[in-house]
Amino acid sequence: MTLSDDRSRLGSPAVTELPEDVTIATEEGRRLAEQLADNRRHARKLLEVRNLSTQFFTRDGVVHAVDDVSFEVDYGETLGLVGESGCGKSVTALSLTRLVPNPPGKIVSGEIILDGINLLKLSSEEMRLLRGKKIGFIFQDPMTSLNPTLTIGYQIAESARMHLRLSRKDADERAVELLSKVGIPRSRDRMRDYPHQFSGGMRQRVMIAIALACDPMLLLADEPTTALDVTIQAQILELIRSLSEEFGTAVILITHDLGIAAGMCQRVNVMYAGRIVETGMVDDIFETPQMPYAWGLLDSLPRLDEQKGARLRTIEGLPPDLIDPADECRFSPRCTYARDVCRQKEPQLTDRVGERHAARCWGTEPGGWIQ
Ligand SMILES: Nc1ncnc2c1ncn2[C@@H]1O[C@H](COP(=O)(O)OP(=O)(O)OP(=O)(O)O)[C@@H](O)[C@H]1O
Ligand code: SF4
Ligand SMILES: [Mg+2]
Repeated sequence: MTLSDDRSRLGSPAVTELPEDVTIATEEGRRLAEQLADNRRHARKLLEVRNLSTQFFTRDGVVHAVDDVSFEVDYGETLGLVGESGCGKSVTALSLTRLVPNPPGKIVSGEIILDGINLLKLSSEEMRLLRGKKIGFIFQDPMTSLNPTLTIGYQIAESARMHLRLSRKDADERAVELLSKVGIPRSRDRMRDYPHQFSGGMRQRVMIAIALACDPMLLLADEPTTALDVTIQAQILELIRSLSEEFGTAVILITHDLGIAAGMCQRVNVMYAGRIVETGMVDDIFETPQMPYAWGLLDSLPRLDEQKGARLRTIEGLPPDLIDPADECRFSPRCTYARDVCRQKEPQLTDRVGERHAARCWGTEPGGWIQ
């Protein structure tokens, strides 16, 4: 198929994906993908995740780390992914980039459509090209992501050179510009320095510069500030927010801290035991949470009106084992409102009052026993 063959089909809103016989590994395919992306930009979501399941095949059994998860991200939106340790936040992010360690991990089902391209249908090489160009990452610990033997300047410029096909000189200029944008003083001089010559906060700024070097459409930030002290944490979050506004980049912000999500995100997905248990606009989640687990997370937030020195409430008990989970509400062993039905069948995510607000709870469904 040639580009001109396909031009007539491009005008049709029904064309939403790259035709199967066209690959983005070719120049023609890339142009076609760009045109399709333009076609869809105003009508579609940037990211559509449908029924995604990722499992780990271990000696003890199959870990259902991400279990039938569906969500969307709008162009330019910041979506929070929150939940306790082990609920599947990072495995969701790894799945979106197809970086789940295999073995033992595997995406076993679902669809991940980024800007109209079904990522699970791409070859490894196509995925590698797309990863740098369309998706940027920031991880919790920059030391594990930065190469200690290469200069900071090289690491930023390399990314721009590879994915934007810039000359060495232009890529270096872009690196200097990005370093100064992320708040590194004397950026031109610091290009020659190595990661160990930067403080923790500065390394995280460098990671942000690398992530943005290719002007990605989506930034995945997995606990980007947990290792930093509170002041630096606030600065880094503000930097992510202002850069995403400036570049129009959508962000998936992964955090176990609902307070951070409240300050940064337009919408929030609450995850528990591999499932999304509540999703909604940030105000709906904070003002009218519909799921006892979300209440628990909110209760464990420090409040301004709380007496100084008061102990934070925590959610009693531990999340369940994700090996072959039973057909029940996964929060039921810890939920003080649980009834028999909760232990007999798992509730679905059902719509609640509020924009795109849904929750997974028998008790708070219309007619349920929690009002
Ligand atoms: N390589 C692996 N092998 C087996 N199980 C794994 C592997 N990686 C993750 N898991 C399991 O997948 C589940 C989800 O883990 P994940 O790392 O996504 O949690 P998380 O929500 O990011 O937690 P945290 O807040 O601690 O980072 C956990 O039960 C974890 O034990
Ligand atoms: S479904 Fe039942 S056990 Fe689960 S959160 Fe709701 S009330 Fe609690
Ligand atoms: Mg994690």
